[in-house]
Amino acid sequence: MNLKGKVALITGASRGIGRAIAHAYVDAGAAVVITARGAPALYAVREELLQKSGHVLAVVADVSRSSEIARLVEATLAEFGQIDVLVNNAGILGPSPRPPLIEFDEHTFNEVLRVNVTGPFLMTKAVLPHMLERGSGSIINVTSGAGYGYAYWGAYGVSKGALDALSRTWAGELEGSGVRVNLVNPGRTQTQMQREAYPDEDISDYPLPEEITPVFVWLASDDAKDVNGEYFEAQEFVIPAS
Ligand SMILES: NC(=O)c1ccc[n+]([C@@H]2O[C@H](COP(=O)([O-])OP(=O)(O)OC[C@H]3O[C@@H](n4cnc5c(N)ncnc54)[C@H](OP(=O)(O)O)[C@@H]3O)[C@@H](O)[C@H]2O)c1
Repeated sequence: MNLKGKVALITGASRGIGRAIAHAYVDAGAAVVITARGAPALYAVREELLQKSGHVLAVVADVSRSSEIARLVEATLAEFGQIDVLVNNAGILGPSPRPPLIEFDEHTFNEVLRVNVTGPFLMTKAVLPHMLERGSGSIINVTSGAGYGYAYWGAYGVSKGALDALSRTWAGELEGSGVRVNLVNPGRTQTQMQREAYPDEDISDYPLPEEITPVFVWLASDDAKDVNGEYFEAQEFVIPAS
């Protein structure tokens, strides 16, 4: 799976799954733009990636705020001139330990939905004019099995259910445009968010983020150019025979 010549924008890439996707994309030959709110961790990942490739840009931004998104997309186009892939990976869990829904206050509920749903909506809106003009693009939204709506998954579960609907809506409306929108559920993976979700559990048996990246590379590649509106389980993914 070759990503040479492609430019990928990955949100929430300062640690965990986003960081692993950025490494996998650089390893496959893509230029990458990474973003997160916290500068020190983001710049540390930029340094790691620069050891492998010169085609790396790090932009500190909150992907739930349109003014920061506009700055991020402008910086990406100024640096690389194109955006082929958008991975809407940034997300927040909300309070840990996970409270019942009745204990959520309005601000916290809205904040989780703003980052996990409004963020991917605004990011997609921001890159779409460019992708539609070029007639191609791969947008990958990182969801969760919690999106079904289980007890004690609170605003996070609600947000991922909404993200699934958002993604299928985009996919339907973009069918035939060359721009595709797909969902990936990483499954339980060893990250900070997983530790926040299960503060009392030993998660050291779960896959590392680096182990679940093949589906993200495949969806970014031209091998998946006709795949739109699909839902993938990262830990069960097998590259389809071409
Ligand atoms: N880990 C799992 O087992 C698992 C399972 C299912 C789904 N997922 C999904 O996978 C994705 C990545 O999760 P993870 O486990 O890697 O989480 P993580 O370790 O907590 O990393 C989250 C990343 O998102 C960034 N971020 C959070 N809010 C942001 C915002 N408003 N703007 C920009 N960046 C933001 C964080 O950096 P800053 O805080 O510095 O902004 C960080 O880089 C999430 O969408 C999550 O819901 C994870």
